[in-house]
Amino acid sequence: MTDTPLSGRSIGRKSIKASLKPRDLMGETPELARAFQAQVITLFPGAFLGVLGESLTGKALNEGLWQLKTYDLREFGEGRHRNVDDTPAGGGAGMVLRPDVLEKAIIAARSEARGVMPLIYLSPRGKPMDQPMIRRLAACDGVTLLCGRFEGVDQRVLDHFGIEEVSLGDFVLTGGEIAAQALLDATIRLLPGVLGNAASTEEESFSAGLLEHPQYTRPAVWQGREIPPVLMSGHHAEIGKWRKAQAEKITKERRPDLWAAHEARKTP
Ligand SMILES: C[S@@+](CC[C@H](N)C(=O)[O-])C[C@H]1O[C@@H](n2cnc3c(N)ncnc32)[C@H](O)[C@@H]1O
Repeated sequence: MTDTPLSGRSIGRKSIKASLKPRDLMGETPELARAFQAQVITLFPGAFLGVLGESLTGKALNEGLWQLKTYDLREFGEGRHRNVDDTPAGGGAGMVLRPDVLEKAIIAARSEARGVMPLIYLSPRGKPMDQPMIRRLAACDGVTLLCGRFEGVDQRVLDHFGIEEVSLGDFVLTGGEIAAQALLDATIRLLPGVLGNAASTEEESFSAGLLEHPQYTRPAVWQGREIPPVLMSGHHAEIGKWRKAQAEKITKERRPDLWAAHEARKTP
């Protein structure tokens, strides 16, 4: 029997002090009452904060809008070597993460969860991440993410805990950490107060079920290419019409699936 750590490593803050950087905030930090709680179970806690410590998500962490706690799967491992995996039942290549080890890590994380916090396994077999899913997560109190490695996790642990499976896309990553960071990045930017200009989430790709129109900025002419004159006209109604037409054209050409869903919503 191995010792089960009471809790993982917290990254976040208790009070707001502008001089601190996200990396300075690692260590035990009490939970902030209203902060979005991100819990990550992983064999590689050192991969976090990763890119989440940069730019808007890093600033939001610094401001206490969200908190991150990692749970090192190795600490829940069995025996002197803290084993976390074993060979696949029925044979085959690779190793599978053991259900008893995962169970201890999941129980440790869930015992510290509060409010509505979905339990998600990042998996190529999962439902592909999309903006409606991300909006649903951003409305929760937090999320518990399980990052797989090797051949993945024992199926029984998914069934036992009723774990939702979510995929980053139709390709196979080495582990769930990059997918977890993608999910957290997309979710955190939707939390109230994270983006300076909230309107930017209303007009971007997927917000109305369409891809975004093209964007331009200075210089007005670059490599002989001009900014479309309508965007320089100052006629806001015309600019709005042009952007809508462009968004529809691009969606139709690039994503017939999104376009069909958009058209279906229009028919009563
Ligand atoms: C090498 S993969 C396992 C692939 C698995 N044997 C299969 O064929 O479906 C190891 C881990 O990476 C993560 N992973 C791989 N691809 C992913 C994707 N597209 N989305 C989310 N997580 C992924 C999962 O956590 C998975 O357990």
